[in-house]
Amino acid sequence: MSKNPIIVFEGIETSGKSTSLKKTIKYLKKKKIKYISFREPGGTNLSEKLRQLMLNKKSKLNNKTDLFLFMASRSENFDKIIKKNYKKKVILIDRFIDSTLAYQHYGMGLDKNLILRMNNFLLGNLKPNFTFLSIVNKKNMLKRLKLRKNINKYDNFNHNFYNKVQKGFLKIALTNRSKYLILDSNKDSLKIIENKLINKINKILK
Ligand code: TMP
Repeated sequence: MSKNPIIVFEGIETSGKSTSLKKTIKYLKKKKIKYISFREPGGTNLSEKLRQLMLNKKSKLNNKTDLFLFMASRSENFDKIIKKNYKKKVILIDRFIDSTLAYQHYGMGLDKNLILRMNNFLLGNLKPNFTFLSIVNKKNMLKRLKLRKNINKYDNFNHNFYNKVQKGFLKIALTNRSKYLILDSNKDSLKIIENKLINKINKILK
C-alpha cells in the first residue's frame, strides 16, 4: 500500500483498540520498522494538557467546547508530529478523525458537515491509509468498564450513547470497506484478533 502509512485505531471504550495498537507497536519493533505513535486527544505537551481539561471526571465543559478542544489538540499534532514524520515513518494513531464524527456527531448530534469541514481545514487532503475498528457488545463493555481503575468523563456515558457511537463508527467503516478492518472482540479470541491484525499490517506495509 504505502511504505510509511498512517494507521489509525478506532473504537469505543473497552473495545480493545489500544491493545491492538500495542500489538502493532510490538510487531513493528520486532521487524525494526521505524514508527511514531500518539493518541488523541493527547500527543504533544499542549494536547496532553487539553486532554486533561476535557477528560477529567470533574470537567463541565459542554459538547461544543469539547469539539473545539479535540480539534485544537489535532491541529497541534498535525503541525508538530504528523507533518514532521509523514512518509518518513509509519504513523500510528490511537483515535483520529473518525472519533470526532462518531462521538461528536453520531453520539452527541453536533453538525456533521461542520466536523468534516473542520477536519479538512486542519488536515487538507491528508487521510489515514488504513483504520482498524475494534467493536464490543454491551455485556462485555460493562464487564470491562468495571475493571477500569481510572474512569474519565468519557467513560461515564450511558450505554445508549456508546451504542450510537459504535453504530456511527460502523457506518463510516462500511462505506469505505477497503480502508477498514473490523476487529470483533465479542466473536474472536485475542489470538485470532492479533493474527488478523498482523496479517493486515503486513499487507499494508508491502
Ligand atoms: P481514550 O483515549 O481512553 O480512548 O479516551 C478518549 C476519549 O475522547 C474517548 O471517550 C473518545 C473521546 N474523543 C472524542 O469524543 N472525540 C475525538 O475527536 C477524540 C479524538 C476522542
